[in-house]
Amino acid sequence: MSERMTIGAQSQVGLPADASYARYGTPARLLHWAVAVLVLATWPLGLMIGYAKKDVVSTFYLLHESLGFLVLWLMLIRVGNKLTSKSPPLDGSAIERFAASAVHGLLYAVLIIMPVSGFLATNAHGFPLNWFGLVEVWSPIGKSPDIAWTLSAIHEWSAWTLLCLFVLHIGAVLFHHTIKRDKTLYRIL
Ligand code: HEM
Ligand code: HEM
Repeated sequence: MSERMTIGAQSQVGLPADASYARYGTPARLLHWAVAVLVLATWPLGLMIGYAKKDVVSTFYLLHESLGFLVLWLMLIRVGNKLTSKSPPLDGSAIERFAASAVHGLLYAVLIIMPVSGFLATNAHGFPLNWFGLVEVWSPIGKSPDIAWTLSAIHEWSAWTLLCLFVLHIGAVLFHHTIKRDKTLYRIL
């Protein structure tokens, strides 16, 4: 058993006091919740850009892009952690395990495509990222009007794909917690 994966949670208040389930390791759990909070803020901020009044739209851009850029770095660390540590084995039938792996894998992919496409899009449109107004981030492509709208379209389609995956993810969590009444939720807490 890897030291990054823990069994049970007897010592933690609020978690079931038995040792019959495996949890993700501490780094994986922290990264899950940090990315979840950031994405739940970044996604609606991105949508609001299209509806914001002129005097505040640049603030929405700044917050959306700066928080979204953080997701990229956390996801790169998360991929590194995933590759170097053991995840607890998935429970359920072969179909359930396949569905969980597919949705988790696609979430990983889209959570990298999203910030990369947004970052490249804003550079291609000629608005390089100034992270929280503090650091001018180097642009790998510079202003490139010929590909700017393609990158924006990739960003937009990925956003709706991410929303669908998130709905499936929460649906699965609710299914496990309220219908199957198993300990899936505690694996990530
Ligand atoms: C996980 C990270 C991100 C998520 C979930 C996300 C989500 C979104 C969403 C939902 C929209 C609205 C799409 C629509 O109008 O239908 C949007 C727009 C936008 N996002 Fe992001 N975004 C992320 C990261 C970034 C980053 C890192 C940047 C730039 C550094 C960025 C730049 C933009 C821009 C410029 C728009 C306006 C539309 C466009 O030109 O593409 N986003 N984003
Ligand atoms: C908001 C409430 C959320 C809850 C209650 C929740 C719950 C869970 C649970 C219980 C697991 C473990 C599933 C298992 O191992 O069978 C998990 C894993 C995962 N969740 Fe969430 N989640 C939430 C939000 C999110 C968000 C917003 C994202 C990304 C957009 C996300 C992405 C993932 C990924 C990629 C995994 C796989 C774990 C890994 O291999 O790193 N979750 N989540």
